[in-house]
Amino acid sequence: MTEVTWSTAWRRSAREFWARTTPGDHFATSAGDVLADAMAEVVRAVDDRLRAPADFTVIDIGAADGAFLASVRERCAELANRARWVAVDVREGFVPGVEGVAAEMPDDVPGTPIRGVVMAHEWLDEIPVDIVERDADGLDRLVLVGTAGAERLGPSLDDEVACARVGVDAAATREWMRRWWPLRDPGDRAEVGLARDAAWSWMTGLVRQGLALAVDYGHCRPERLDALRGGTLTGYRGGRVVAPMPDGTVGITAHVAVDACQAAVPRTTLTWQRDELASASLPDRASPADVERYFAAQRLRQTAGLGGFAWLRWEA
Ligand SMILES: C[S@@+](CC[C@H](N)C(=O)[O-])C[C@H]1O[C@@H](n2cnc3c(N)ncnc32)[C@H](O)[C@@H]1O
Repeated sequence: MTEVTWSTAWRRSAREFWARTTPGDHFATSAGDVLADAMAEVVRAVDDRLRAPADFTVIDIGAADGAFLASVRERCAELANRARWVAVDVREGFVPGVEGVAAEMPDDVPGTPIRGVVMAHEWLDEIPVDIVERDADGLDRLVLVGTAGAERLGPSLDDEVACARVGVDAAATREWMRRWWPLRDPGDRAEVGLARDAAWSWMTGLVRQGLALAVDYGHCRPERLDALRGGTLTGYRGGRVVAPMPDGTVGITAHVAVDACQAAVPRTTLTWQRDELASASLPDRASPADVERYFAAQRLRQTAGLGGFAWLRWEA
């Protein structure tokens, strides 16, 4: 196959990958009991604010088999049967207790915009992005990739016609990079978050009244210009980090430029998981289950790990 942009290669590869895999086969996500408790609290608070509407709906985007959403549902006794619980994912096969929608997002979700909560955990980082690298002459060029993962530098962002030929809007890309991820030296790379900004905007558009909440690996401009100058593109296979080969056998991810998502939708707030989940503590007489839960909560709050997850919130 000839080389294509990263977003094209990634999208094709992800369709194949997710068609035959579940997230748990390749990596542990943060969606466990502690987070389910926190989400149940969030859902109940929105229901209270909206005064328990009859059409209250909770949608989980990139929900895998919907097991996390079902566990949030279990924790919302009063709401479990009154609300609609909708799990949306590209892969088929959903657990009982949720309404499964197998679709590639952004797309139509039946019954939207809703009154209630639209959430997504570790979904925005799955939205394919283009990659731009600064070459030895100081030109910012699209990175093209083949299925075996071999890369070469393609058109410069100054060449709008050549960029359009590979499906990239050079002007929009230049503008996004100027604002969010400017490159400095040869070899520096930017992961262009336009599609994630659009995905977040789409998510908030699903809410007529209530809350949109996306939780994900995030970074902001100062970190990108310093520690992340090579980018964050990563592959996972069988629980290990591997080269992000876009051949359908590897889960590909890149952390999310969450400040750009925030700016894309007015009134979005940005907080960090370590602060959101700061209150879980160990009771005086802890049972083994308490201890397990305590350490799970600690893991979700570690600044260098899952505590560094960003929470993008938008309320209406
Ligand atoms: C990393 S997993 C996260 C699963 C779950 N939310 C969690 O936190 O455990 C990403 C999920 O997003 C789904 N996914 C990836 N791209 C998608 C897309 N464009 N539309 C819908 N689902 C997508 C995958 O099938 C996968 O189940």
